[in-house]
Amino acid sequence: MQVLQLELAKNDPAHGEQEVLKNFDKTSVKKVRDFHKSMWGYYKPTPLVELKELAAWLGVKRIFVKDESKRFGLKSFKALGGSYAIACYLAKRLGKRIEDVSFDYLASDEIRERLGRVTFATATDGNHGRGIAWMARILGFPSVVYMPKGSAQARLEAIAKEGAAVRITEGNYDDTVRMLVTDAARNGWTVVQDTAWPGYEEIPLWIMQGYTTMISEALEALPEPPTHVFAQAGVGSMAGSAQAVVASYGYDKDPVFTILEAAAANCFFRSFEQGKMVSVGGELNTIMAGLACGEINPLAWDIIKNYARFCLSCRDEVAALGMRLWGNPLGDDERIIAGESGAIGGGIIGLLEKYHNLKTDLELNKDSVMLLFNTEGDTFPDKYRDIVWGGFLPVEFRRRNY
Ligand SMILES: Cc1ncc(COP(=O)(O)O)c(C=O)c1O
Repeated sequence: MQVLQLELAKNDPAHGEQEVLKNFDKTSVKKVRDFHKSMWGYYKPTPLVELKELAAWLGVKRIFVKDESKRFGLKSFKALGGSYAIACYLAKRLGKRIEDVSFDYLASDEIRERLGRVTFATATDGNHGRGIAWMARILGFPSVVYMPKGSAQARLEAIAKEGAAVRITEGNYDDTVRMLVTDAARNGWTVVQDTAWPGYEEIPLWIMQGYTTMISEALEALPEPPTHVFAQAGVGSMAGSAQAVVASYGYDKDPVFTILEAAAANCFFRSFEQGKMVSVGGELNTIMAGLACGEINPLAWDIIKNYARFCLSCRDEVAALGMRLWGNPLGDDERIIAGESGAIGGGIIGLLEKYHNLKTDLELNKDSVMLLFNTEGDTFPDKYRDIVWGGFLPVEFRRRNY
């Protein structure tokens, strides 16, 4: 049994770099939301769950969890990004602005006849690929999805069910992205990747903008401003998008923004420590498949380094604790089904009650209003049961310093 250790890195945000927020202002957020709203029968805001008993237990004012396990019937927020990026790509090919096209128009036979065969391709640890395959299918286009070594069969099957040609490679996530890009160039596929690199920035930016629907839905539903926002990061596209929307929202006081990472792939943690963007290589072995990315999206880094305050590097036991904590609520609190990458924030709550110096370091107190994201449900059901029912990855947590 592990006595849990956590590592906290502080960032010294430069602030004031308004330029990096320009693609996430209220006008951009509205454009994205309007497109998602045009997805009749598919789009519906996900719940913002208030956990009152948990807040009382932890000694903070309020805790809110945006529950993305309910998104599009796909159990994760990811398709928000993929759907918007594919829409923007098609609009551009048609010579139109995104605000002038609707989902129904893009799904019409006329569009496929005009554009001919377009194959959307991506590399994924699960959720992003499922979102791309889903959007391609509902618009009537083919898709190809590559997954890194060690990907769960259940996640592969969920993607194959959306009609994609799926393949598991011999590389880690970052290597798999490179393989996909090479094969796409050879086969004429359109790469829709959720991370950027020099020369490939337009589509990843659209993906990041797509995520703003999740963040703005949450901020609009909050009854009072958050004092603390926690966002998990793989390549950081989601956290970067969340940070940008929060920083642009016009709060009197900036909420304290904390990145949550898997220790096995803690590129933000190390980048904060070193004050520059650095990568982590190797197998990136963690149950948090969605966070198993060792190379930061540079578009996200520009935002994060300017605004985020902290990064917590978490062992797998933190995610397991979060899955159990949210799945077994206190009193009348609602149950939240959180998968490995979704649950990390729940695990932090479990630990904060024991590690009081961490609470102090994160500036949490009785007046704090916390916002967290459950970014996925039980996308790997057997693993969910191993952890929540079977007690896999138990933790021993005594009152101690972290
Ligand atoms: C469930 C889940 N949460 C969080 C993330 C992290 O998102 P990003 O890679 O944009 O940092 C992912 C990425 O795949 C994910 O699948």
